[in-house]
Amino acid sequence: MAMGPITLQDIRSVAMTTTYIRGGTVVSPTGSQPLDVLVDGETIAALVAPELAPFGDPDQTFDRVLDASGTYVIPGGVDAHTHMEMPFGGTVASDTFESGTRAAAHGGTTTIIDFAIQRQGERVQDTLAAWHAKAQGNCAIDYGFHQILGGVDSDALKAMDELVAEGVTSFKLFMAYPGVYYSDDGQILRAMQQCAGNGALTMMHAENGIAIDQLVAQHIERGETSPYYHGVSRPWELEEEATHRAIMLARVTGAPLYVVHVSAKQAMEQIATARGAGANVFAETCPQYLYLSLEEQLGAAGFEGAKWVCSTPLRSREERHQDELWRYIRTGDVATVSTDHCPFCFKGQKEMGLGDFSKIPNGMAGVEHRVDLMYQGVVNGKLSLQRWVDVCATTPARMFGLYPRKGIISPGADADIVIYDPNVHTSIGFDKTHHSNLDHSTWEGFEIDGGVRAVMSRGTVIVDRGQYLGRAGHGTYLKRGLSQYLI
Ligand code: URP
Ligand code: ZN
Ligand code: ZN
Repeated sequence: MAMGPITLQDIRSVAMTTTYIRGGTVVSPTGSQPLDVLVDGETIAALVAPELAPFGDPDQTFDRVLDASGTYVIPGGVDAHTHMEMPFGGTVASDTFESGTRAAAHGGTTTIIDFAIQRQGERVQDTLAAWHAKAQGNCAIDYGFHQILGGVDSDALKAMDELVAEGVTSFKLFMAYPGVYYSDDGQILRAMQQCAGNGALTMMHAENGIAIDQLVAQHIERGETSPYYHGVSRPWELEEEATHRAIMLARVTGAPLYVVHVSAKQAMEQIATARGAGANVFAETCPQYLYLSLEEQLGAAGFEGAKWVCSTPLRSREERHQDELWRYIRTGDVATVSTDHCPFCFKGQKEMGLGDFSKIPNGMAGVEHRVDLMYQGVVNGKLSLQRWVDVCATTPARMFGLYPRKGIISPGADADIVIYDPNVHTSIGFDKTHHSNLDHSTWEGFEIDGGVRAVMSRGTVIVDRGQYLGRAGHGTYLKRGLSQYLI
């Protein structure tokens, strides 16, 4: 970890607002160390060993001093998978860029990468412009975009190169949702070839949607219409099969592959095997697959399970997918933990699937709670403090071309900093910690042995002990570089 030898003169010569974060333990993927952090304007100027500080009383020297004694000082979270205002199943995800990024800020996430969406017949560039218009001026934190391609044709392929030059360096394709976002294997192959040429990362929703649609229709015909059957109709075999197929297509084309929202341990085995053979294949999982299950959430009484309908689906606790996903986080085969934040209100939105689970809009909330939920993994002995920071901030930043500006506390990086207090307790719930535009909490009743004390975004304190001090429009668009995380 770098330590900048600084003098008072250095600080004065920069002459921006200085903030000194004193007394905390700075955590990075490679270690943790008692270090003070000097922020100058929007960026980190230096890490200072407290006993070596070459100036007098920080209170007299700096514009602002934040006391971080007894806390972890970590890079702001990077959530590489969110869907604010996403159109899905005849409705639109309930968090706007404004409400969703405010919720993210409360939870210690200072960067999101959201998805612009192109469908068959639409010009890719137009759809990206539409997503820029939704986000610009509305975000509390910095944001970038991936591009979903739902209609791969020759124009879309050409557009991919243009987008890479504009900082959209990753493209999501769907092997699921036929007739909506689905691409066939030929389209996937073509898009991967384009990525192999322009250096972009292919992101894959790996489920065999053609087979799933048959199973869905059969369940509905048999009168098995409750949310539980959403999970049953999307068996792990069809996630494993699609994951394997995606890996093989990537291998044929030479494109790197990032498999999103992996929920099945068998899909992870495919990814780990490919990685063991040296392939540029990466996995993302989400907190819902680490904590929630087919039996408890999707199988909840009545229509309640609709709150947790998402794809890939929650898996059976009995089949022990969760333990295996935690293990793959420790081995590094799971590279990142994102949220797939895509909330829909129970009233009026999830209810669209009353009597037919296939009409329930897919998605749930998470952007506010990811850093906490993963910290609870540290408390529970599932991952180390360093790996917590790695999967929540550093690796997503590297994977998506934002490092070292984001994802690390280091001189020159943006001052996106979270002061995380391991000595407090956070009870998640609708009436307690809830800032999403959503009529329920996905994570109701979850208890965390820690909590976010303060959040800084590019040098501005935007959350302080639960109080929101940020503003819509503070967040700026991040033009991303190419992935820096190839094996
Ligand atoms: O259920 C989900 N995951 N909704 C969002 C769309 C997607 O597939 O990521
Ligand atoms: Zn998906
Ligand atoms: Zn998603």
